[in-house]
Amino acid sequence: MSELLIYGGKPLIGSVKVSGAKNSVLKLMAASLLTKEPCILKNVPNLIDVQKMLSLLTDLGTEAKWIAPGSLYLCTPNGLNYYGSERLMREMRASILILGPLLARAKKAHVYYPGGCAIGPRPIDLHLKALEALGAKVEQEQGGVLFLQANGGLRGNRIYFDFPSVGATENLMMAAVFAKGRTTIENAAKEPEIVELQKFLNNLGANIHGAGTDTIVIEGVKELKGAEYTVVSDRIEAGTFLLAGAITQGTVKVYGARADHNEALLYKLQEAGCKIDIGPSYVEVKGSKHIEPLRIRTMPYPGFPTDLQPLITALLTLAEGTSLVTETVFPDRFKYTHELTRLGAKICIEGECAIVKGVAKLKGAKVEAFDLRGGAALVIAALAASGESRVSQLEHLDRGYEKFSEKIASLGAIVERQN
Ligand code: UD1
Repeated sequence: MSELLIYGGKPLIGSVKVSGAKNSVLKLMAASLLTKEPCILKNVPNLIDVQKMLSLLTDLGTEAKWIAPGSLYLCTPNGLNYYGSERLMREMRASILILGPLLARAKKAHVYYPGGCAIGPRPIDLHLKALEALGAKVEQEQGGVLFLQANGGLRGNRIYFDFPSVGATENLMMAAVFAKGRTTIENAAKEPEIVELQKFLNNLGANIHGAGTDTIVIEGVKELKGAEYTVVSDRIEAGTFLLAGAITQGTVKVYGARADHNEALLYKLQEAGCKIDIGPSYVEVKGSKHIEPLRIRTMPYPGFPTDLQPLITALLTLAEGTSLVTETVFPDRFKYTHELTRLGAKICIEGECAIVKGVAKLKGAKVEAFDLRGGAALVIAALAASGESRVSQLEHLDRGYEKFSEKIASLGAIVERQN
């Protein structure tokens, strides 16, 4: 079990570069299953989740190799296997993204209900309903086994999502690539990762438009070729460093941060009293001694991202007044707040709301990360807390942050990773 020893209370100062986006690259990797030709992905972060997705693809018949640091070669020739590994699928939520490509190319998929972060129930009913609407036959067996088949191939249809699910939108975009005719997705998710997936698939020869709006249209094509693609920078990692700068009253310039992908956060940081400078290739935050309390409500993009909810809550523990944080996307995503209280935070949970009463300072303590973003929130809170803290179960952070402790150390944080 790894832990991070943090000697906090020191402002973070300097610049840092964000890596490629975890939530984009995993989908591009899954999409590479759709073509027999080679795909080369650049700016790929070396994360545990990326390694797991690589293993999953390799099991399915993909030839995968790192051809340079951050450059991944993927090629899935004929003979694609349609059995997803039970162990790997249960370990990672994004594993469900192989479903669409397998159905499209192999016309069959034998997969398992996916696992992932412990942030509440994560059903896949929207994925399955939409795939059925394209003609897939879904059989659910005991033990979380799913067998889907589309003998004769999928057929385009009009699909309306009850909720703009990111994963369901992506799975359907990939499944519909070879479907006969036109597929229209209404109330589609609008996240930047959806736009990236459309760009990548179109580079491979797909015919998709509308990503980034509520309606995505996919015209079926016969086959796809290979392509080279650079992964977009990680907006959640960028947000994490901006919030780390803000909570430590430091000045942090985040290279690769895209203001257009983080508008909700930048707006809220300014409302809290931080100064934001937007440059051509960076966003800089200057923290304030006086943090204004905020009202935050997580929403699908372009609303405030649920993945930054734990991190902004960490900042609000030091606000001059009481803040209200409402989590509408994953209502159970407040487990980390109990750990924040060990650092001296005053937080009370009522249903889907966290009531955060600002305190003058946080004090170092031993805390435990239960999931990826909750764990990151504990690290930035510990960076602001006086004295020594230990954040255990750091493995959760390795799933989604590349060289996290090195990067915060480069900003002047005194940290030491153990094991
Ligand atoms: C993705 C991100 C995750 C982010 C989330 C919301 C990846 C690998 N993960 O997760 O980091 O927090 O988007 O921005 O990209 N739902 C259903 N039925 C379904 C699918 C979803 O009820 O079939 C519900 C979920 O339980 C949740 C909400 O819809 O309450 C949002 O889920 P979704 O947008 O699908 O998130 P993910 O794609 O799993």
